[in-house]
Amino acid sequence: MKTTTQTIRSLKGTRPLVALTAYDYITARLASEAGVDLILVGDSLGTTILGFGTTVPVTLEMMLHHTAAVARARPDSLVVTDIPFPEAHREPDQLLASCSRCLQDAGAEAVKIEGGAAMAERIARLVAAGIPVLGHVGLLPQQIYELGGYRKFGKSSQEREKILADALAVERAGAFAVVAEMLDAGCAREVRDALKVPLIGIGSGADCDGQILVSHDMLGLTVGKTPSFVKRYANVGETFGKAFKEFADDVRDRKFPEI
Ligand code: KIV
Repeated sequence: MKTTTQTIRSLKGTRPLVALTAYDYITARLASEAGVDLILVGDSLGTTILGFGTTVPVTLEMMLHHTAAVARARPDSLVVTDIPFPEAHREPDQLLASCSRCLQDAGAEAVKIEGGAAMAERIARLVAAGIPVLGHVGLLPQQIYELGGYRKFGKSSQEREKILADALAVERAGAFAVVAEMLDAGCAREVRDALKVPLIGIGSGADCDGQILVSHDMLGLTVGKTPSFVKRYANVGETFGKAFKEFADDVRDRKFPEI
């Protein structure tokens, strides 16, 4: 059955919501067949697929291209496109136009906007125009140069209050759910309890309404270190490497093709 933003909202307090990133047709199909509730075409596209060091170089055109591939899988999961840096900070009319392209041209069903209270007015405008918005608070990878690095958020009472205020502002603006990245577990619990919409955690502990992971991280399809909170469910990188090596050996040894 097709998951809608209403389904996502209604999951709060019932069962944990399951979300994964996907950037292509086959991954989207597999995620949908596995019963994933929400597929995020994340701007982690930049680091997982495109070989950038951060998400900052990812453009709207790249997001549209990959969202269209995901949408072609016609997943039962809700398809959400991440609005990349610095689209969300452009003039509100332009932001509305960019988000509309995600829905009209690429087939997304919602967009994700990084940022809390500072983005609330823009989020409210999108929601009023009929564009569902997934919020994102805590660590904001698009602001990595300002933040100075990856770390936990919400450890101090001052930061806790700010994150709670951010999440509530995003909810008031009409977001149907909020992603919480790298929150201190106690802070995440507090935010989850304060929100009426689901809080979807990544690196924020168990006390969220659901969990999201970057699919390449949990599949073991990344180069270098994965974040310590990630559980590896497969070692696809190793499987690929073995298959490529076996093929290369077979060709060189004239074992493939057999006729
Ligand atoms: O881009 C992304 O994959 C994300 C997740 C980390 C939530 O924003």
